[in-house]
Amino acid sequence: MSKVLVVYGTKSGCTAGIAEKIGETLRSGGMTVDVKPAEEKPNPAGYDAIVVGSGVRASNWHGSVKSWLSANADALKSVPTAFFTVGLTMAATPEKADAVRAYTDPLIAETGVTPVAIGLFAGSYESKKFSLPERLIMKAMKAEEGDFRDMDAVAAWTTETAPLLGLS
Ligand SMILES: Cc1cc2nc3c(=O)[nH]c(=O)nc-3n(C[C@H](O)[C@H](O)[C@H](O)COP(=O)(O)O)c2cc1C
Repeated sequence: MSKVLVVYGTKSGCTAGIAEKIGETLRSGGMTVDVKPAEEKPNPAGYDAIVVGSGVRASNWHGSVKSWLSANADALKSVPTAFFTVGLTMAATPEKADAVRAYTDPLIAETGVTPVAIGLFAGSYESKKFSLPERLIMKAMKAEEGDFRDMDAVAAWTTETAPLLGLS
């Protein structure tokens, strides 16, 4: 049975829900899956495939996930790895998907980890889960409040990506 590690970074909790949905979808396909926050610094050794993703602030993955990716780049280069990015651009202006996909270009260049796929998912903005400085930025940007996560889209991407990760 294939073993998969899903690693994520979140500040509001939004991306944790998406990571859990990826894990649940893989489990229902017969895989053994661990879903871990990057802060826990999970060891990628012994997994057949890795899925790593983050919510974003100003076009950037969270520092915890970037650090985890850099620290484990050598291991990730030898195991199929997929990325996913969660943000409000995919909710408000999904036609800007190419710009969201490009958020991880610097990480790919810096670490040499080449993902087999990059999932792009709409996130959420529930002001009570965000810090005051974040709320002020969101107010200035006139961001709409709501949970825009589409768990069916997350499950569909996971199912499509599993064969690219060598999972069947
Ligand atoms: C200060 C700030 C900056 C943000 N910048 C972006 C951005 O550049 N692109 C984007 O798609 N979403 C952006 N977002 C939206 C978040 O990525 C979105 O709310 C996401 O669901 C947060 O998930 P997380 O809390 O799990 O990281 C931003 C949110 C905040 C508060």
